[in-house]
Amino acid sequence: MRGFEIPNVNEDTSRLSRVQEDVTERIQSILDSFKSLVEEQKRMNPEMNGEIDNVGRLLLLKGERDLRYWMRKRKDTGETFLKEFSISADFFRRKFFELLELLKDIPKEGSVLDLACGTGDVAILLAMRGQKSFGVEIDPGQVRMGRFYAKQLGIEIDIRQGNIINGDLPQADHWVAKHPCAKNMALPDAIISRWSKEASAHKLVCMTCCQGKAQDSFPSYEGMSAEQWKGLCKQSDWTNNKDPEKQRLGHEAMDAIDEKRISFLSGLDLQATLKKVENTIKGNVIIAEKASA
Ligand SMILES: C[S@@+](CC[C@H](N)C(=O)[O-])C[C@H]1O[C@@H](n2cnc3c(N)ncnc32)[C@H](O)[C@@H]1O
Repeated sequence: MRGFEIPNVNEDTSRLSRVQEDVTERIQSILDSFKSLVEEQKRMNPEMNGEIDNVGRLLLLKGERDLRYWMRKRKDTGETFLKEFSISADFFRRKFFELLELLKDIPKEGSVLDLACGTGDVAILLAMRGQKSFGVEIDPGQVRMGRFYAKQLGIEIDIRQGNIINGDLPQADHWVAKHPCAKNMALPDAIISRWSKEASAHKLVCMTCCQGKAQDSFPSYEGMSAEQWKGLCKQSDWTNNKDPEKQRLGHEAMDAIDEKRISFLSGLDLQATLKKVENTIKGNVIIAEKASA
């Protein structure tokens, strides 16, 4: 696995005057625990060693970039940064399991479109697998970062800036979306609806997200009112709450929303199931397929 280079965070005292001296040491300990996690997972899942290495490489690259960015811009003591850091112990662990579990459900044959791809994590990992993959993302900054990561990893990838609701989409055999969400828009529902009409896209794998931002855009599901939708969307944001009881209620709301999505797909005579990924905060995955022609 590619090494993670920790720049000397204490070398520039003018820009980083208030940086705690032990930041380097703490980053090193995060990296050590990450590397142990990767090695442990490789021992437990020998058939997935290639995939685990790829996820590790991508997350390390992102973590290193975050660290350099923080060194250039931030003036905080390092406390906040270490909590938010892409490879901070909790965040990394969650991302690691989410991505690995998602990859298991994405067919290894055929091309894949990653919708609302952000910096293209899934599209990049599929390209690392050797698959043709596309990403579409509305935010140009995220698109630039995705292309940068792909270049650093030496892979060819097609990440485009675009709107997945009504813009043109590249044709692909399968669709994937990880944590799609947007202000005033029920993004997973828009993806599900568009996929159901797109004959060329066979499988959909969508890891959903809390839906507080989508509370005012009810997708008109049968047997549910706009008020009920709003309440569930708000409650789904509690998955981030520190209080375990609120977290539980957050999960309950996400499950109720995702079950509605499954019923919608089943009502169209499409195969659809809901998988739950352990060790994650937002690990509900909707897996849907169209019958082969
Ligand atoms: C929570 S992020 C998830 C990003 C990425 N899939 C991941 O898991 O890291 C949601 C992403 O959806 C993007 N997005 C929101 N509305 C969109 C739209 N209409 N078309 C394309 N992308 C959109 C946002 O810019 C953001 O990057």
